[in-house]
Parts: sequence; structure tokens; C-alpha cells
Amino acid sequence: KKIILAYSGGLDTSVILKWLKQTYKCDIITLTCDLGQEEDLAGVDQKALDTGASKAYVEDLRNEFAKDFIFPMMRSSVVYEGSYLLGTSIARPLISKRLVEIARSEGADAISHGATGKGNDQVRFELSVASLAPDLQVIAPWRTWELSSRTDLIKFAEKNNIPLPTGSKRYSMDRNMLHLSYESGELEDPWEEAGEGTYTLTTPIEKTPNEPEYITIEFKNGDPIAINEKEYAPAALVMNLNKIAGKHGIGRIDMVENRFVGMKSRGVYETPGGTLIHAAHRDLESICLDREVMHIRDSLIPRYAACIYNGFWYSPEREVLQALIDKSQENISGTVRLKLFKGNVFCVGRKSPNSLFRKDIATFEHDDVYNQAMATGFIQLNGLRIQGHNKI
Ligand code: ARG
Ligand code: SIN
Repeated sequence: KKIILAYSGGLDTSVILKWLKQTYKCDIITLTCDLGQEEDLAGVDQKALDTGASKAYVEDLRNEFAKDFIFPMMRSSVVYEGSYLLGTSIARPLISKRLVEIARSEGADAISHGATGKGNDQVRFELSVASLAPDLQVIAPWRTWELSSRTDLIKFAEKNNIPLPTGSKRYSMDRNMLHLSYESGELEDPWEEAGEGTYTLTTPIEKTPNEPEYITIEFKNGDPIAINEKEYAPAALVMNLNKIAGKHGIGRIDMVENRFVGMKSRGVYETPGGTLIHAAHRDLESICLDREVMHIRDSLIPRYAACIYNGFWYSPEREVLQALIDKSQENISGTVRLKLFKGNVFCVGRKSPNSLFRKDIATFEHDDVYNQAMATGFIQLNGLRIQGHNKI
């Protein structure tokens, strides 16, 4: 038997690594992904080897993550339940894909992850594996072992000489270049405000600059390519926008969301750069996207969001929606001007060679192209059906 473990280097996955080794007495190979979480990954391979791994992969997947996962998702202007920009959800398919690829090249027969049995992440990892490699076994220690709490975990770590993280960890957190999430602890009371020490990527509004900052974001076929006329590779673009937006306190989300597994859960998220991309992209669509295409696409956003949130990235329905979304983005190229101030992003200007906006038609001044008299018949015929509907 050989197991590939998704390993962050944190307490949970270190305990899992040791537990897998003790329980299965087989080769365990770890995979640690750099998805832009800006943690120092130097030494994480040595830590894995010291904890019982026979081989440790550490991979920089930042550009693949931005280009093949974040950008395709954001082309759809997606949001889950009106607020969540899906920062954790979109990372799971990529990690799963690499787990499967390594399982294949190493001849492994099982995959393991550190998601608990109560959340969405287990579903996302395992549905991805089900789609990509249905023959692989999945081992989810949190659902089977005898440890049942954080205290148990710490006891296990102490007994097995696994170094404990320094400082008190208040929350269950997940970070990558798109977002940082906080759950559990005091947040389990939805009435309780997340204390200031909670946030990491965004400045508290009380301390943001008192002057607005203007920036431009340029898009090509629905994907962001430049900030202030300077082009960046996908990951660098997202990470630079994080700094710009974070400084102005932009991108905080505090919500109670519906988990796929049937419970409501409080989540606090920071998605600074993603918030700018989302706002600017939507705004550019306002001049480049045909009305009917926009309305059809908008009607599909909840469906597409559910695919990603619920773990169906590798599914026929997500692929068919993606084809529609990608087709809709053929003309979404141009530049949006943003004003950033005190936690807000205002789109204050937009331009595109593909703009469908026609001043000669839309003007409130005299025009020679739009015959207002035609509106009379348009309204009369539309009124025909509803006439007398509300008989008094
Ligand atoms: N509730 C969010 C989601 O389902 C965030 C999950 C965070 N995951 C974690 N392992 N801390 O996408
Ligand atoms: C977990 O349960 O591992 C984290 C939260 C989630 O997956 O929704």
C-alpha cells in the first residue's frame, strides 16, 4: 500500500501523517502546494520526512491556480449566496488533481486529506478524485480515527514529538492567493463581531488612507492582464491586487453560509484582490456584453456557484456551463478605472474597443438615429397582454 497525503505542514496534517504511518505501516508521500498562501514552505519537506513520510513533494502551483482555476471561475462573475467569492472552494480541485497525478506516477493506491467530516472540503476533494481516478481509495482520518477534538489532537502530537504551532490559533483558517478564511472559535456566534486581530490581509477601515486611490485593470477575453497598464503573470496580478486592495480595507466578507453537508456555518473571509477583479470584470461586461447573453449568464450564476462550492468542478455540468461562459467572454476586453476608498471599490470609468455603448443612440440630447415614435407601438403591443389583467 502507498498513500499520497495532502500536507500543509500544520498540526492537523502532521498528526494525520503520523497516524497514517502507525495505522497502515506503509509508504506515505506528501504533497504540499504553494497556492500563494505566503507561508514559508522552506523546510516543510524535511518536516514531512521527519514525521514519517518517505517522500515529500513541494510544488509551486501559483500560476496554474490563477490561470486555470481562478480566472475561468471569475469569468463567470460568480458569487455564492450573494457574498462568498469561493476562495477555498476553487483551490480544492487543483490540489486533488495533483494528488491524483502523483498517485499515478508513484503507483499509489490511496489518497488522504485533512478535511473534517463536517465540512465542504472533504466533499470537494473526494468528488474530484471520484471524477479523475475512481479506482483510488480515499482515506479521511477525521471520519474514522479515535481522536475527536482539538485537545485529543494536541495530546497525540505531544506524545509523538510533533512540534505544536506557536501562538494561539483562534480559528480554522485556509489561505491561498484568492482569500483567507476564518471559521470556528468566537465566530460560531453569528451575532459576535470578528475581533480586529482576526484580519490579516486588509487594513481596518479606521486606519486606511484618507485619500482615494485610482487604479486601472485591463482585461482580455474576460481575464485580467494588467494593472495600471503594466502586464503581470496571472498569480502576480492577483497578489499585487491583494496589496492594493488590502491597504484600503477592501474585500472583507462576514456571512452565514449554507454548507453542502446540510448545516449553516459562519465564515469570515478576506478576498482583497478578488473583490477588485470581480467588480471591474462585471463593470466591463456592462459595456461589452449583449443584454440577453448577460441575463442568461446571470441566471446561471447560482448553478455555476453551486458546482464550485459543492465540489463538482470536474463534472459534465460545470464543463457545459464553462463552455457557455467562455463563449460569452470573447468580447470582454478593455479597461476599467477604479476608485478605492475606505473599504469600497467604485468603478468610475470603463472603455473597450468592443463597447456596445452608443452615445448617438443613448443621448438625452437631440439624435438622428433613434425614432422615439416607434416606442409608442412597442409599449402598446407589450401592454396588450396585461391589459385588463388587474380588472377592477
Ligand atoms: N466555508 C468555506 C468553504 O466552504 C471555507 C472553508 C475553509 N476550509 C478550511 N479547511 N478551513 O469554501
Ligand atoms: C473542514 O471541515 O475541514 C473545513 C470546513 C469545510 O470544509 O467546510
